[in-house]
Amino acid sequence: MKIVFLGPPGAGKGTQAVNISKRYGIAHIATGDMLREHVRKGTELGKIAKGYMESGGLVPDDVIVGMIVQKLAEPECEKGCLFDGFPRNIKQAEALSEKVRIDAAVNIDVADDIIIDRLSGRRVCKDCGAVYHISNLGKDAKTCANCGGELIIRSDDNAETVKNRLKVYHEQTSPLIEYYKKQNVLVNVDGSKSVDEVFEEICSKVDKAIS
Ligand code: AP5
Repeated sequence: MKIVFLGPPGAGKGTQAVNISKRYGIAHIATGDMLREHVRKGTELGKIAKGYMESGGLVPDDVIVGMIVQKLAEPECEKGCLFDGFPRNIKQAEALSEKVRIDAAVNIDVADDIIIDRLSGRRVCKDCGAVYHISNLGKDAKTCANCGGELIIRSDDNAETVKNRLKVYHEQTSPLIEYYKKQNVLVNVDGSKSVDEVFEEICSKVDKAIS
């Protein structure tokens, strides 16, 4: 089973991907998380990616596609994969289609004004990557409920970078909605609802799409 998650930055792709990958027993492949790990470790790939990520631009396609091809060869991908944040443009989608057949492309639809509120209040655990929003955290919460790690603000969640990430999304990523619609695998989900409601909507629509 192969699922793609589409949607603007802050739509809730990562939040939902954790639970949806568990529900279907498939690997969660998040290119943003993989890139941040490379940056943190200071690898060659991380050195290339850092500047693009800090400005909100896309990391070059050859770097991303190479990373995905390597990942797909790992045993955890045998049962299936949920691609979170990949593909990001038509070229990446075409490269992916040469490797696997996509069963469902879930478009988590959220308006820009909601996105800005979500990203300005996002906190992530420095150690395990768990994602929170300040509206659900205690007033002075500074540690992760999962592992006790420090909660931080992602370096690309500042106002200027978010503006550019949204611009890049509308110009380069949103055409994928039409791309997957033409392939009859598009599933539209209202991402403005609560986390639980969005999860239920994704499950029922994906179940229908793969039946
Ligand atoms: P990436 O890490 O993929 O960032 P993104 O796509 O911008 O998405 P986010 O992680 O910001 O948001 P999300 O949709 O996962 O939302 P979340 O669940 O956290 O990419 C970062 C960078 O890496 C890119 O800019 C680019 O440079 C590079 N990159 C990555 N992939 C690439 C590729 N394929 N090609 C080239 N470059 C690439 O939720 C956000 C907040 O909202 C949280 O606080 C959460 O608690 C809250 N929230 C979630 N759902 C709800 C809900 N239903 N109601 C209320 N609050 C909610």
